[in-house]
Amino acid sequence: MNKPLSPSLISTVTPAANSAQLRRSVRGFASQPVADALLHDCLQEARRAPSGANLQPGYFWQVCGARREQLSTQLQHAYEAGEQEAEDYGYFPSPLPMSMRKRQVAAAQALYGALGVERGDAAGRGAQFGRNFRFFDAPVALIITIDSGFGPGGYMDLGMAIYGLMLAAQSRGLATCAIGAMASYPGLIRDVLALPSTQTVVCGMALGYEDVGAPVNQALTARAELDAYFKRLD
Ligand SMILES: Cc1cc2nc3c(=O)[nH]c(=O)nc-3n(C[C@H](O)[C@H](O)[C@H](O)COP(=O)(O)O)c2cc1C
Repeated sequence: MNKPLSPSLISTVTPAANSAQLRRSVRGFASQPVADALLHDCLQEARRAPSGANLQPGYFWQVCGARREQLSTQLQHAYEAGEQEAEDYGYFPSPLPMSMRKRQVAAAQALYGALGVERGDAAGRGAQFGRNFRFFDAPVALIITIDSGFGPGGYMDLGMAIYGLMLAAQSRGLATCAIGAMASYPGLIRDVLALPSTQTVVCGMALGYEDVGAPVNQALTARAELDAYFKRLD
């Protein structure tokens, strides 16, 4: 059992606000490996996330070596062949409201703009999208799953742990990118990782040290103004 943090330890942890301000998705990584102990530290901190009834839903599977190569090769083949699977869970509302569509387009422009990929360059965009399936060549590749019986509340809990992992990594000089693209091929991922059919594939995550010279890491996203999502009701 991972014991509660003691008050003296709490005061030595980097303030979360700093990590939250500095964190951004990183899609280009240095080859420097991440020590197992450091990764385990990050995961244990992430799992301090709150959850309903402290159920702590979800699993993080680190995919390494030949298994990782096999997974990425098969995912890339499936993607390049235009194969489609039924996804385990829905993500985007359909239709996407125009206000959200604008945010999506702005995020895509930030990414492809940093790479110098023009709007009409389908091959360039496809190549970058394909890199999702290689975990952006990060030293640590994670697949994140949840027991299929969980409803939206469980995803909410797991999302907090995922963000906790991002912040824990950030505060230790590491960088991350969540990879929702993995959820396009849940069956393939379960097969290669030999996961039971009761595991829903939520997303992947790339984790490692940032390649600070990689143009892709120049992509910066904005956020909606406070009044777009916060209202005080008297
Ligand atoms: C659950 C989740 C899934 C994501 N999936 C992908 C993905 O498949 N590929 C990708 O390049 N970025 C992915 N992202 C990164 C988002 O595009 C990014 O978080 C967003 O544009 C805001 O930018 P920032 O993280 O740099 O602040 C994902 C983020 C989240 C939280």
